[in-house]
Amino acid sequence: MEEKNLKELVGRKAASLVKSGMAIGLGTGSTVFYTIQELGRRIKEENLRFRAVPTSIDTEKKAKSLGITVVPFEQLEKTAIDLAIDGADEVDVELNLIKGGGGAHLREKRIAYKAKKFVVIVDGSKLSDILGSFPVPVEAKREKWESVKSELEKIGAKVSLRVKNGEIFLTDNGNYVLDAKFDFILKPARVESMINEISGVLENGIFRKEKVSEVWVGTGEGVKVKK
Ligand code: A5P
Repeated sequence: MEEKNLKELVGRKAASLVKSGMAIGLGTGSTVFYTIQELGRRIKEENLRFRAVPTSIDTEKKAKSLGITVVPFEQLEKTAIDLAIDGADEVDVELNLIKGGGGAHLREKRIAYKAKKFVVIVDGSKLSDILGSFPVPVEAKREKWESVKSELEKIGAKVSLRVKNGEIFLTDNGNYVLDAKFDFILKPARVESMINEISGVLENGIFRKEKVSEVWVGTGEGVKVKK
């Protein structure tokens, strides 16, 4: 099956986890796109009722257009999240993740780390033995990006400032993203905290395994669940 179809398979299936009355975290990207579509269908056809905190402006727009009740990200602190569903860019055998290919990892992490259950949805192309194939997105204060870049280089990364359509990419929070490519990341939790200790860093895209409840993988033989 094509990658797009596997994303659709797993994205739609994950929508079955949502029950009426829940508050959920709604991720960002082309896999969660299908979850949002399916949730829109369930609202219409099954009278499903729930609230969702979106991880990006893009997801917020899509959710609202399908009749999903949106809780603004700013209200996250006072909201108990029953379940968060999100995609990932890389998943290792222990279920550590790299996220932030779309630059939404700051909000994604705040929501996922607060959720009672965090379910990650991917196709098989995202799986790897050790993290490092995908660069780690690092959200940084604009005025500090150059010093953040050189600190990341000191810990062994090749770093580039993210550019999109010829312009410096800005996150939903108005910051820059540095993509930090490591050869491999042997201790994800350690690297996650080392990066966040750099002055000017707001968040990075390593999600440690302790915060991941399950990874659902879309395959030619259906959806496989890793715990
Ligand atoms: C957004 O910033 C990312 O963390 C996405 O969740 C991740 O890039 C997965 O995206 P796809 O589902 O589009 O592959």
